[in-house]
Amino acid sequence: MKGLQRLIFGSKLDDVLAKVFAAIKEPMREVEEFLFRAVQSSVQEMTAMAMHLLSAGGKRLRPALTLLCAKFVDRINHRTIAFAAAVELMHTASLIHDDVIDKAELRRGQATVHSLWGNEAAIMCGDFLYAAAFNILSEDGDIDVIRTMTNASSQVCEGEILELQLAFNPFITEAQCLEIARMKTAELMAASCKIGALSTNSNGQIAGALESFGRNLGIAFQIVDDVLDLEGSVEEIGKPVGSDFLEGKITLPIRFALDALPDDKRKFWAQKISNRDISLDDVSDLVSFIKANGILERARKTAQNFSEKALSELRSVEKVFSVSREALSLLEDVAHFIVRRRI
Ligand code: IPE
Ligand code: IPE
Ligand code: MG
Ligand code: MG
Repeated sequence: MKGLQRLIFGSKLDDVLAKVFAAIKEPMREVEEFLFRAVQSSVQEMTAMAMHLLSAGGKRLRPALTLLCAKFVDRINHRTIAFAAAVELMHTASLIHDDVIDKAELRRGQATVHSLWGNEAAIMCGDFLYAAAFNILSEDGDIDVIRTMTNASSQVCEGEILELQLAFNPFITEAQCLEIARMKTAELMAASCKIGALSTNSNGQIAGALESFGRNLGIAFQIVDDVLDLEGSVEEIGKPVGSDFLEGKITLPIRFALDALPDDKRKFWAQKISNRDISLDDVSDLVSFIKANGILERARKTAQNFSEKALSELRSVEKVFSVSREALSLLEDVAHFIVRRRI
């Protein structure tokens, strides 16, 4: 079953997200139509590559955040729909490029664009999708929105490079792990929330608070993504377990694991990592240690702290401005889902 279908027919937690999507069903349908139109090209192969990923059942969390943030402060309008589509296009572009960087074979449980069409075509498809996103934003013409998204786009690239630079470095700090998460993932979520507010007539101060909400939520999201890489099954996460560590990525849970090892073992692992000598057996050894020592719970707790910080931003807005309580509750549901999710 693909991601979104699994969400709808899955556990209680999935019911939470299904409820969120039920509340924004009609605008999300419009976003989907927008996405479909945005990837039409006279070069059929381009549309085929983009549709391959777009129709593969992504969670659509970022456009949902854009819609919910607009609803929170005012109401969803035609600009909100366009911005939500732009956000998902940028996300899709970053996934296609990220899979080239990570040499990933699977995405959303199916073959990656680069594995089917080759790296050259995948890079161009990603670029095409970035351009499609900015085309939508330039049609709208709001310079604040364009600036917000160009800034997010730069930071995604910078975050990916920072992560590459720090790969196979066993001495990466917790702060550096969080900085990578912020740049490569959280800044796009921050922008998704901020431009939701900017699509409405709400007070400018609110946009800043929603940006901060999205940033903290995005950091929580990436920490859980890093946890899922270690705890999920291939079926659940749509890719092999421990792929990050195999690629030399010292994510936050791996950092916690290395810190929890006795000195001699930590030295042994540091040497292995520096030597780029990580085998599949090493991955499963470290995963066993991680599972036996409550490391994943500790990482999820860190994610929860960021999610709580995110929610406190919403509550500070609620104290000063008149907001939709229904949207607030839905945003709380999204935050709850992000910390506890298994997909
Ligand atoms: C995956 O994001 C990439 C990260 C930023 C970790 P999602 O987990 O939101 O991907 P889809 O869109 O649901 O497939
Ligand atoms: C990718 O982070 C974030 C971006 C798409 C920029 P990851 O590399 O952790 O994402 P997954 O795990 O491949 O989805
Ligand atoms: Mg990746
Ligand atoms: Mg990941």
